[in-house]
Amino acid sequence: MKRRKVGVIGAGFVGATTAQRLAERNVADVGLVDIMEGIPQGKALDLEEAGPVVGYGARVSGSQSYDVLAGSEVVVITAGMPRKPGMTRDDLLKKNAEIVGGVVDQVKKVAPDCVLVVVSNPLDAMTYLAYKRTGWPRERVIGMAGVLDSARFRSFIAMELGVSLRDVQAMVLGGHGDTMVPVARYATVSGIPITELLPKEAIDRMTQRTRDGGVEIVNLLKTGSAYYAPSASVVSMVESILLDEKRVMPCCVSLKGEYNLKDVFVGVPVVLGGKGVEKVIEVKLSADEQKALEASAAHVRETCAALDRVTAA
Ligand code: NAI
Ligand code: 2OP
Repeated sequence: MKRRKVGVIGAGFVGATTAQRLAERNVADVGLVDIMEGIPQGKALDLEEAGPVVGYGARVSGSQSYDVLAGSEVVVITAGMPRKPGMTRDDLLKKNAEIVGGVVDQVKKVAPDCVLVVVSNPLDAMTYLAYKRTGWPRERVIGMAGVLDSARFRSFIAMELGVSLRDVQAMVLGGHGDTMVPVARYATVSGIPITELLPKEAIDRMTQRTRDGGVEIVNLLKTGSAYYAPSASVVSMVESILLDEKRVMPCCVSLKGEYNLKDVFVGVPVVLGGKGVEKVIEVKLSADEQKALEASAAHVRETCAALDRVTAA
């Protein structure tokens, strides 16, 4: 049987941790690319040398050349600059547009049939850029944010209630930014709606903490942004695609009329399988939730319009 491969571009905190998690789960070989001379090679070799101890046989190759990505079924783009304290995600727009645009052009050449998972920020705009630049169907260009934002919401709920992290399910929709929409009505603890377990004040507090989840980590780390939960989120998406698991996850996709939104990239629940996004799931939203999702989509539209301006200039 042919060995499977996943490409990871950007061997920084998120990229290298993603490569580590993939190798440790032994689901695929990994090709790691970065512009920094020696960094992907060194991290790849280090990861291979961990294999005998941890007990995996996944091969990890690092390079400045995109040739190591040939044959990748899924390619994850983490190349870019992370957000620094005081910097908004939108500040990253111009710099990361140049980086991600160049990366996408290379991926098109070496892995023309892959499913792309975009991680670089500002997430929704970078996913839009990758979609435009590849010309691929929306099924194969997916942004990672909703899994991470939902994981944060789930963690805060578990902490508040003093219950296992494993038993909390929740969903965050919308763009990856201040306007994201944690949907408390659909959050449950082993099937029990959190609205039955927590007062409105606690839910509102956790909703806001979820929106600020990225900044909270940036303010603590001071020199970079989160990577453990982001890489775990990426790997859950990659596995669902690679193993055709058809898991239901909130992902950033181009909407075609679902949720009354068209031609805009925002996070919504989808079925993720071997073909990428196999279905967009439309759940019933209250009037307030729909309004919040539309406001979030409007913010993404503004960022994408700004992206079009800076990339045209
Ligand atoms: P990092 O700075 O540790 O790694 C970025 C890597 O990209 C560096 O190693 C850099 O050399 C490389 N790079 C830069 N230009 C490149 C190019 N043209 N080709 C190949 N590699 C290139 O940053 P970190 O923490 O890994 O974050 C990566 C990106 O992911 C950032 O934009 C960050 O904001 C974003 N992010 C997004 C999340 C999400 O939920 N969507 C969560 C966490 C991070
Ligand atoms: C986060 O939410 C930086 O977007 C990244 O952690």
